[in-house]
Amino acid sequence: MMWKRINQEQITRPEMFDFHGVNMVHYYTDNWENIQKFQAKPDDILIASYPKSGNTWMSYILDLLCFGISSESQQSLPLSSKVPTLEITIPVTKSVQNALGAVGSGLTLTGVQHANMVSTSPRLIKTHLPVQFIPKTFWEQNCKIVYVARNPKDNLVSSFHFDQMILLHPVPKDWRSYFHRFLQGKMVFGSWYDHVSNWWNKKETYSNLHYVFYEDMVKDTRLEIDKLCSFLNLPHSSEEKDRITAKVHFDEMKENPFTNLSRFPGFDRTKSTFMRKGKVGDWKNYFTVAQNEEFDEDYKKKMENSTLRFYSEL
Ligand code: A3P
Repeated sequence: MMWKRINQEQITRPEMFDFHGVNMVHYYTDNWENIQKFQAKPDDILIASYPKSGNTWMSYILDLLCFGISSESQQSLPLSSKVPTLEITIPVTKSVQNALGAVGSGLTLTGVQHANMVSTSPRLIKTHLPVQFIPKTFWEQNCKIVYVARNPKDNLVSSFHFDQMILLHPVPKDWRSYFHRFLQGKMVFGSWYDHVSNWWNKKETYSNLHYVFYEDMVKDTRLEIDKLCSFLNLPHSSEEKDRITAKVHFDEMKENPFTNLSRFPGFDRTKSTFMRKGKVGDWKNYFTVAQNEEFDEDYKKKMENSTLRFYSEL
């Protein structure tokens, strides 16, 4: 199991820095050359999103759609072992360092190594990289890409809780300053506004990109599964799609040790939980009236030329 390999003691909260115009932390840039040289296979499926937009949910849906509810791995492997995060570099235990010596590893395990160990076909690969950082091999191989976007208000609230628990990100200060950081785009993986817009614009020139909204997934998961099956040319029966819809419900995933990340060692679980709420509109419990006005005004300015439309309540 991949998680047992991570050396939690070696994970220290990083600083953010400007990386080619995007705020990043070293855990996602340390292996940059190899990330850029990554070799995709034509049937790889890339699951891209800004952090906290439903990437895990989408990964699980695609895992079930591609490999089936009753595949052996559903009972033996956590989702994050099956779906590598392309850009990550994390410290690993001594025994793993030794074992990985054969593939040239030092003190870390990288998402690229992990992806190269995945033997399934297709491979599902996760990323939070902005579109301009995606290794060119994915475009050259014409890989299918699913992008998940979430309304910014809930995305911000979810990130605020997540950054408190994930040891790979800087500790957020108070809610007020975090709110402004989001507006200024000073977040790990950069500005939400740039991320969702640049991926959206990519659809114009790259047809193998399926853009999905978190809110649509909450509203009608079954319909989004239908659309995914069409996009991926997967001929599932209606009954199978119903079964998968039930299996990926928030309450099911929260209880499922293979999807709830309850054993992932990179979290401080005293701060939050990975499967937190899974709702549309939770932002209302955090935004003051003044913050909501400030947010909306700023949003209008930033997104005035975009055709993207988000729903922040259902
Ligand atoms: P909340 O923090 O608002 O609960 P990511 O996987 O990209 O990190 O996104 C995490 C967010 O997706 C969390 O949001 C998490 O609860 C939510 N999520 C995960 N699985 C879900 C599901 N089956 N249904 C609804 N939301 C889900």
